[in-house]
Amino acid sequence: MDDPSFKVTIPENTCEIQQGEEQFIITCNDGREVQIRAHDYDEIYKIPGLYEHLFYENYKCKSPAVICSELVNAVENSNQKISNLKVLDVGAGNGMVGEELLSAGVESVIGIDIIEEAAMATERDRPGIYEDYFVEDLTKLPADVEKRIVNESLNCMTLVAALGFGDIPPHAFAEAYNLISESGWIAFNIKDEFYSEKDRTGFSKLIQHMTDGGILDVKSKKHYVHRLCQDGTPLEYFAIIGQKHDDIPTSMILN
Ligand SMILES: C[S@@+](CC[C@H](N)C(=O)[O-])C[C@H]1O[C@@H](n2cnc3c(N)ncnc32)[C@H](O)[C@@H]1O
Repeated sequence: MDDPSFKVTIPENTCEIQQGEEQFIITCNDGREVQIRAHDYDEIYKIPGLYEHLFYENYKCKSPAVICSELVNAVENSNQKISNLKVLDVGAGNGMVGEELLSAGVESVIGIDIIEEAAMATERDRPGIYEDYFVEDLTKLPADVEKRIVNESLNCMTLVAALGFGDIPPHAFAEAYNLISESGWIAFNIKDEFYSEKDRTGFSKLIQHMTDGGILDVKSKKHYVHRLCQDGTPLEYFAIIGQKHDDIPTSMILN
């Protein structure tokens, strides 16, 4: 961004700060000052360009581009067409993944996010990207919204930078997964430690049960740097692309 309407300073003593706990002091052009943490998305989305500045310019986030290109490769390797995909973008935020999906040539994208500020920022910064944008908590999806989404016969789910860290828990991931039609494409990223034996979040077990149970057929798994942490440490994630074979049964949703 050439001329941002804000200035970002980092408070002192932030060297021990963990992912998601990163702090910033934002000084707006009108002199207003706010101190925010990396996961205060409601505050971040209110300021145009701040999300892009913090995560994409400062911390070199590459995930929307990586997930979309991995999805395109997997779809094309299966002799299918990206232009046939009708996508549900989960944890859609201010629309960066939706924008990338449309550039890749998908047919349409519907967004869902838990906070109103995400929908408002999308409308302000990327109008027209989503055919529809639902502001809902996936753990408490109203029956009428669920019906509207299912009626769209969506054949792809994307979920980028939104698993764990107090964002989307395993059972919300499962709820979203079950909204996608059979044989639909599933594309998401997850911090590598949440997909390892050390994991305590429930994601690793859930994904393992899904693959062992033939519910998800993983087509590609790429280890890559999602972004840098405030102290410069690379945050390593997996980009996982697969095809859905069945719904996740309630008994498999561990928490
Ligand atoms: C880091 S942002 C990622 C946004 C976008 N996917 C991207 O890559 O730029 C995480 C998003 O997940 C949303 N989120 C958190 N919990 C959620 C839930 N239970 N249901 C839907 N969205 C949720 C947050 O509001 C936030 O917009």
